[in-house]
Amino acid sequence: MSEKKRIQVDLSGRIALVTGAARGLGRCFALDLAAAGAKVACVDIKTDTLAEAIGAIRAAGGTAEPIACDVTNSTRVNEVVDEVVKLWGGLDILVNNAGITRDSLLMRMKDDQWDDVLNINLKGTFLFTRAASRPLCKSSYGRIINIASVSGLMGNPGQANYSASKAGVIGLTRTISRELASRSVTVNAVAPGFIATEMTAKLGEELLGKIKEEIPLKRLGLPQDVSDAVLFLASDAAEFITGQVLTVDGGLTV
Ligand code: NAI
Repeated sequence: MSEKKRIQVDLSGRIALVTGAARGLGRCFALDLAAAGAKVACVDIKTDTLAEAIGAIRAAGGTAEPIACDVTNSTRVNEVVDEVVKLWGGLDILVNNAGITRDSLLMRMKDDQWDDVLNINLKGTFLFTRAASRPLCKSSYGRIINIASVSGLMGNPGQANYSASKAGVIGLTRTISRELASRSVTVNAVAPGFIATEMTAKLGEELLGKIKEEIPLKRLGLPQDVSDAVLFLASDAAEFITGQVLTVDGGLTV
C-alpha cells in the first residue's frame, strides 16, 4: 500500500490490468488496486523494475503477476489479455497508463518523436482497449480508465506529439464509453497535471519551480493524488459515471 492512503475502496474478487506498472503512476495504481483487494496484472517493457513493483505488492499482501509486453505490439497485447483471462477467469478493470514524452518544439520535431509518442500513448491505449473489450463486456463490472493529461486539454509548447496523443486518448475514451455503455462497461479518463514522477523529474528543478508557481495549489501532484481518482473510478461508487475526464491538477486548468 502506498503511504498516503485516503480513499477506501473494496475491489475484492476483481481482476485488473495496469499498463506501465513498473514505476511512477502505474506502479502506484497497481499497489493501490491490489491493496483494495483486486488481483492485478502488471504490464510493462521494463522487466527488472516490474519485478521490484511486483515484490512490493506481494510484500503488502496483494496478488499481482508481472507481464512483459510492449503496448504497441498488437499480437502480444491480444496474448496478454488471453493470458490474464486464462489465469484468473476474466477481466474487470483496465487501466491504460503506459506513456512517454519525447518533447521538442514543432519546427524541430522529428518523425520518430511523433510516431513513438502517438504509438505508445494512443495506439497502445487503443490496442489494449480493443483486446480487453470482450472480457470486460462479459464482466458484470467492466471499467476502463485511461490516463490522459492536462496537455491534451490545454496544449503545452514543446509537446505537440504528446498533447495530440492525450487529446486522442480523450476522444477515444468518449467514443468507447458510448460503444460499451449498453454492456455496462464504464470508460473514463483521468487527466493529471504535473505529478512528481521520473517523467517530470527530467524537466529539472528550475522549470519545476516555475511550474509550481503556476499551479493554484502551489505544489506538484503526488502519484497518490492521481491514484485516488483511479480507485474512485474503479469503485462501485462510480458506476453511473462514464465518458468523463477527471482532471487532477491542483487547479492548473481552471
Ligand atoms: P513514467 O515514465 O514514470 O512511467 C511510465 C511507465 O510506462 C514506465 O514503467 C515505462 O517502462 C512504461 N512504458 C513506456 N513505454 C511502454 C511500452 N511501449 N509498453 C509498455 N510499457 C511502457 O511515467 P509516469 O509519470 O508514471 O506517467 C504515467 C502516465 O501518466 C503516462 O501515460 C503519462 O503520460 C501520464 N501523465 C503523467 C504526468 C506526470 O506529471 N508524471 C502528467 C500527466 C499524465
